[in-house]
Amino acid sequence: MRKKRSQFSNRFGFIAAAAGSAVGLGNIWKFPFEVGNGGGAAFLILYLIFCFGLAYPILVTEIAIGRRAHKSAAVAFRPLGHPRWSFIGILGVACGMIILSFYNVVSGWVFGYFVEILTGNFDIGKNFGGYIKDIPTIGGYTIAFSIATAVIVSQGVTKGIEKASKILMPLLVAIIVFLVIYAFTLPNSMEGIKFYLIPNIHAINMEVIYRSLGQAFFSLSLGLGAMITYGSYLGRNENIPSAAALITLTDVSIAFLAGLMIFPFVFSQGLEPTGGSGLIFITLPGVFQTMGPVLGIIIGSLFFLLLTFAALTSTISLLELPVAFLSDKFKMKRRPAVWLSAFIILMLSIPSMLANGYSGFFTNFITYFGRNEATDFMTFVTDLASNTLLPIGGFLISIFSVYIWKRHKLFRELSHGSPGFTKSFAARYIGFSLQYVSPVILGVIIIITILETFFGFNMFAK
Ligand code: TRP
Repeated sequence: MRKKRSQFSNRFGFIAAAAGSAVGLGNIWKFPFEVGNGGGAAFLILYLIFCFGLAYPILVTEIAIGRRAHKSAAVAFRPLGHPRWSFIGILGVACGMIILSFYNVVSGWVFGYFVEILTGNFDIGKNFGGYIKDIPTIGGYTIAFSIATAVIVSQGVTKGIEKASKILMPLLVAIIVFLVIYAFTLPNSMEGIKFYLIPNIHAINMEVIYRSLGQAFFSLSLGLGAMITYGSYLGRNENIPSAAALITLTDVSIAFLAGLMIFPFVFSQGLEPTGGSGLIFITLPGVFQTMGPVLGIIIGSLFFLLLTFAALTSTISLLELPVAFLSDKFKMKRRPAVWLSAFIILMLSIPSMLANGYSGFFTNFITYFGRNEATDFMTFVTDLASNTLLPIGGFLISIFSVYIWKRHKLFRELSHGSPGFTKSFAARYIGFSLQYVSPVILGVIIIITILETFFGFNMFAK
């Protein structure tokens, strides 16, 4: 018998929660440094193409699977009549835990920056390298942040968080817009704008394609079933394609704004856009300093506090994956499931914490993509999760929806709340993307990655 499942109070509640999951460090921390490494505008354009052409249809599908099955990702495939495909959900749970293992550490950095800027330490950006290898400090913040996520998920106060995020997210966007305007007034800012908006076709190579695709998945929280879980709480008469369009637009716009803010700052300070995962942490404190002590502290600390909050609304959706898995599959009670998951993830975070200078082994962990220098463990798991595991998840979800569950059943589900959908342009667009674009593009990228990783091919070399 189908149990009654709690639902979002309305369409806006669902969109706010899903957008809260999507908008996070992926937009404001990861996106700018990926653009910086990927040659600027060339990366941006590929990212936009992947978001709308490939990720949006998968977002629609994840939500539809969740709503149809009325179950979280780990068990959603059984009620659809395909228990064998449950492995997608399990892959998703594992990948979600990997993502949390580094996401919690970076969230710890962000919260730590809030404290530093609040106490007027604008020099923290120059000392970033020393800061992230200060294990007692970083460990403390990571633990604190993990506990905060666990408390919210275990108390089920997610509703309250959604309410709060309806105020705090717009506030974060307002600060970013303010910073974009401020950025335009700084000397040399035009160089940043050019780097960000004028594409250099030669910057496009296999690695940039691969990374921009991974970024599209990461940013929209796709590929591991997080949106299946959210969809399972969605009412029958909501219009999924239009809600998903709104989520995609919100997420992409915030990432776009973050880039518009950061590159003028980078160039006006004479820094390099290829600064890697420290880009916003190295760049922003100096910017806040130029605003003078009072305004700098207010804007700067508020920015990092709101970013911590944005990270929290994302980690909630990630922690929900193992928790739902443990409670749906092993009938574990919610509270122990939360703390067990949080504890395992914290243990998994340890190598990432050590990978930023503290331990030589984890700092120079592995060499790939035909580079000469080694990559640290944290960057390695970030890459592995977003660029390899999420696209594999997306590939399986698109194959599942059109060939196993069947396109007409997907479309029937989408017609609830969107009468006439089957005959619309959106239907043709979504169907074409799921049936041809996703399998081909994702399939090719996955094969190349496997050849690269296991057989030493060197297709990413520049
Ligand atoms: N999208 C979030 C961000 O941009 C991160 C995130 C939350 C995520 N849930 C996810 C990524 C599920 C992949 C899958 O910060």
